[in-house]
Amino acid sequence: MKKTFVLAALLTAFASGATAQDKPKVDPATLEAVTKAMWPKVPEGWEKRVSFDETQKQCSEHRNEPPGAVFDQIKAREIATVKFPADGNVLGDWKSGIRIANDGRGGTFTDRPMTNGANCYACHQLDLAQLSYGTLGPSLHLYGKNRGFKPEEAKATYAKIYNAMSVMPCSMMPRFGYHNFLTEQQMKDVTALLFDPESPVNK
Ligand code: HEC
Repeated sequence: MKKTFVLAALLTAFASGATAQDKPKVDPATLEAVTKAMWPKVPEGWEKRVSFDETQKQCSEHRNEPPGAVFDQIKAREIATVKFPADGNVLGDWKSGIRIANDGRGGTFTDRPMTNGANCYACHQLDLAQLSYGTLGPSLHLYGKNRGFKPEEAKATYAKIYNAMSVMPCSMMPRFGYHNFLTEQQMKDVTALLFDPESPVNK
């Protein structure tokens, strides 16, 4: 009898401990200090990557679930950072795009010059031929086809890749253009991967 009681008490404690309102408050300043301490020898030009911007602070504070007003504020701030190609063409070469999307190499301190794969496959299914892919993000198979290959959808997708938080505040997806992690051409190539009817994504 005693054992059952202890177990029940433990379960109750666990259940109540797991509710959102009981989670300890996050202090963004402490989090930023811990992050910086993990990278004590940041090379020149990388400081921004270990500092929190206003959006990241708000996301930390609200455990990535910002209330409506903060959500809108973040979205407006992030949309303002998106730069579209000057000629308005967001579609590059899908064949180059597939190499970029399936390449997880690069982005390390020692890369000179910086060469980056986009690592999309680590979080998304892209096409049916992939041997493995991550599932943190939704499948992108048939992405352009399901959107009728519409130019305005392609433009919205370029913006998503440029800055994922301009669409979904506190997204886990990297802000590729915002951080200058991918070049304009690389982002165009990956957008073409999702929107070219000939791309394996749409087969
Ligand atoms: C670290 C994981 C991660 C990586 C890497 C990543 N994404 Fe995402 N992506 C996500 C998550 C999580 C979502 C869903 C939440 C959101 O919309 O931001 C998402 C959403 C998307 C969406 C919107 C999906 C929809 O249903 O509208 C697109 C398009 C997208 N990603 C494209 C890409 C492309 C292209 C790349 C590579 C350049 C990429 N992602 C890299 C995690 C990732």
